[in-house]
Amino acid sequence: MDFLDPLINQYALDHTENESPLLNELNRQTHINILQPRMLSGHLQGRILSVLSKSIRPKNILEIGTYTGYSALCMAEGLSKDGNLYTIDINEEIAPFAEEFFDKSQYKNQITMLIGDALNIIPELNENWDLVFIDADKENYSNYYDAIIENVNVGGMIIADNVLWSGKVTNPTLKNDFETEALKKFNTKVQNDIRVSNTLMPVRDGMMVMIKN
Ligand SMILES: C[S@@+](CC[C@H](N)C(=O)[O-])C[C@H]1O[C@@H](n2cnc3c(N)ncnc32)[C@H](O)[C@@H]1O
Repeated sequence: MDFLDPLINQYALDHTENESPLLNELNRQTHINILQPRMLSGHLQGRILSVLSKSIRPKNILEIGTYTGYSALCMAEGLSKDGNLYTIDINEEIAPFAEEFFDKSQYKNQITMLIGDALNIIPELNENWDLVFIDADKENYSNYYDAIIENVNVGGMIIADNVLWSGKVTNPTLKNDFETEALKKFNTKVQNDIRVSNTLMPVRDGMMVMIKN
């Protein structure tokens, strides 16, 4: 869900850097060929990810939830020269599509896609992170946060997508909705965690942006 008035959204897009031709093609091909294209971050959120990444010039980026690779390529724009981006997805069928676009990009040698359950893969990665993007199954957001927080460098950034969950997090009548409950717990957990400074940006479906103190 987009919380912005459509006219304001369009105005914001009109005053936001264009997608690169490769990202535009990835966006288009995802909409033509892949199920659930609304999962893709898209132009406005992609530029936000790019600008945030460029602002910290990360050496190591971890993405949880690759899908077709759009957000990974946006964040890769900020990588330092010798930096690396690891992106994890449980869906092996999506990998050839995403990898084709990674290979076409200038970040080809800096991006590694890992296939499997992120909760199993993260502990195997012996890295410290400057930027982590959490964008996989909502039930596990708190588990992903716990799995990465100790390995995020001071000053490093963590971003979690969909934290407003189409506004369901504010709906008092919703009961037994596991994803909404999990996201509410996650948002409260972050808000109470003195290890991070956080802001919930009501952009697109809600982005929680955190800096490790
Ligand atoms: C919202 S999409 C990611 C969108 C992508 N980050 C973007 O912005 O273009 C969520 C992805 O998480 C993956 N996923 C779900 N559960 C997962 C898990 N346990 N481990 C790794 N990936 C998972 C799904 O297969 C899906 O491709």
